[in-house]
Amino acid sequence: MNKTPDMSEHVEWFRNSAPYIHAHRGKTVVVLFGGEAVENECFHHLINDITLLGSLGVRLVLVHGARPHIERQLETLNINTEFVNGLRITTTDAMPGVEQAAGQVRMIIESKLSMGLPNTPMAYASVRVVSGNFVTAQPYGIRDGVDYCQTGNVRNVDAEAIEQQLNQNNMVLASPIGYSPTGEIFNLRAEDVATDIAIALNADKLIFVMESIGVIDGEGELLHQLNLPQAEQWFKNHRQSNNKINQQEVRDTQSHLDNAAHACRGGVRRVHLISRNIDGSILLELYTRDGIGTLVTADNYEGLRTATIDDIGGILELITPLEQQGAVVKRSREQLELDIHNFTVIERDGMIVACAALFCFEIEKACELACLAVHPDYQQHGRGNELMQHIEWQARKQHMEEMYTLTTQTMHWFVERGFSESSPEDLPMKKQQLYNYQRKSKVLRKHLG
Ligand SMILES: CC(C)(COP(=O)(O)OP(=O)(O)OC[C@H]1O[C@@H](n2cnc3c(N)ncnc32)[C@H](O)[C@@H]1OP(=O)(O)O)[C@@H](O)C(=O)NCCC(=O)NCCS
Repeated sequence: MNKTPDMSEHVEWFRNSAPYIHAHRGKTVVVLFGGEAVENECFHHLINDITLLGSLGVRLVLVHGARPHIERQLETLNINTEFVNGLRITTTDAMPGVEQAAGQVRMIIESKLSMGLPNTPMAYASVRVVSGNFVTAQPYGIRDGVDYCQTGNVRNVDAEAIEQQLNQNNMVLASPIGYSPTGEIFNLRAEDVATDIAIALNADKLIFVMESIGVIDGEGELLHQLNLPQAEQWFKNHRQSNNKINQQEVRDTQSHLDNAAHACRGGVRRVHLISRNIDGSILLELYTRDGIGTLVTADNYEGLRTATIDDIGGILELITPLEQQGAVVKRSREQLELDIHNFTVIERDGMIVACAALFCFEIEKACELACLAVHPDYQQHGRGNELMQHIEWQARKQHMEEMYTLTTQTMHWFVERGFSESSPEDLPMKKQQLYNYQRKSKVLRKHLG
């Protein structure tokens, strides 16, 4: 088939996006971005990308912050406000400044979403954006003797009204402002508004467009995925950090992770933390395989972790029946003890319900995903998938380029997850020497790229 050479890359990229386009169509996604993003000269890129998501069938609720705009308004009005525990105390005389700033940001966003000049990404977009009294607020109150005045928190979200708008293909825009049944106006944290809207809508995704690249570990490396316990553990690990992450970043990340964890507990399955400073970050996160930021998932409350010597009994209990069925290779307790640190397990209520192992062969930059097993009572809920993704992530971290797996009964499961048939001769030398020709396992390979 003839293809113009310089266009083939474009075609390839577009085709690779297809599964994600199908997957996200019709999904409800709440996107939060701060006032800093609105001020940025590249804000129109973010708006263009959000509009594109809408065109691809994503049901969108946008929530904006307004902090820099509020600062400026208050400065003009010559009003100083205090922050306690990261929250602004919104006094009665500061409130008009907050209202003006929030209104101004809302209008900037609405105007950008209304653009439609030919030869721009907004051509033919015709976005209908709706704002309203979707969020009921209540006063944050007096805490430790501090009166937070007109600073409030979310009391209720009118999910039905938002759903109605989304069902009519409208985009919903919410400000960090809420109204109380007494007719008062409250200044809210935009992160809380986004989180509570996502929970109320039972949204498929909540996306925080933030200042940093995502959540990073003590070495300064981006963490691509965290489950709930890992998200909760992150702060403990970094509270006294003197490593490559500064304390302001720790506080910001923690604040987003707190909201992410709250959203996950409230039923939002996926929370994405992505950078506003990477052009196209929202598209890269949603329409490429690895994404660009950190994904916090509620998939498994039970916790996925590296195995320890204490898990041997649990792993044996899990895999012995599968060994008897010939689904996984038989391993002695001694061998398991030697290899235990290669294993990752999912533990639920003290029971090992799933496991998998990674063996790396440095010379060939190739690795083996081995002993993937999920307890029969716990199958069909994505645990197999989650383990496989975790093992792949570990392999990439160790710069592995190819991943192999040997299977007798699960070939299709792996093929549906990007593996293709290979042969024993392709295996890394050390593994090839151990290949059991009587067992006739299929050798499958996946390029990690
Ligand atoms: C393969 C295995 C790990 C999958 O675990 P899981 O937690 O059920 O996997 P997920 O929930 O992520 O995926 C479930 C999907 O895989 C499909 N599936 C399960 N077993 C399959 C198989 N043998 N062949 C093809 N597809 C299979 C399910 O039908 C389901 O598909 P659906 O989403 O379209 O309904 C689990 O079935 C298992 O432990 N099998 C026995 C051990 C084994 O064979 N391990 C691999 C060799 S090391």
